[in-house]
Amino acid sequence: MIFNTGVLSSELSDNSFKKIILQKNEEIVIGRMDNKLFAFNNVCPHKGASLSKGNLHGNNIVCYMHGYEYNVFTGKLENMKSWKKDDTWREQISAWRYSDDLKIYNIYEENGEILVKIT
Ligand code: FES
Repeated sequence: MIFNTGVLSSELSDNSFKKIILQKNEEIVIGRMDNKLFAFNNVCPHKGASLSKGNLHGNNIVCYMHGYEYNVFTGKLENMKSWKKDDTWREQISAWRYSDDLKIYNIYEENGEILVKIT
């Protein structure tokens, strides 16, 4: 299903992103990097934090909660080494550290508007 994000292409500057809410309260993040659009689900596949609170690092979104990094174009988990916020955090079992890849969506511009395809 195709959704109009309600965001004009001119409102999304390069190397930025914003959270939007689609019907059924599904939160997605849309953005642009090096003039390429990306869209992904706002829920971190590790433990559910809001990825829109994170930062971009190269092609990755860095989750603010445990520092996992997911590629915004492919969804691939790229880096999970910095899950400890500080040295007081104890080592976790591998099941706790496990994360799926990030859910991404097709995104494109049409007549100056930004659209996403949700399947
Ligand atoms: S909840 Fe996002 S890295 Fe853990």
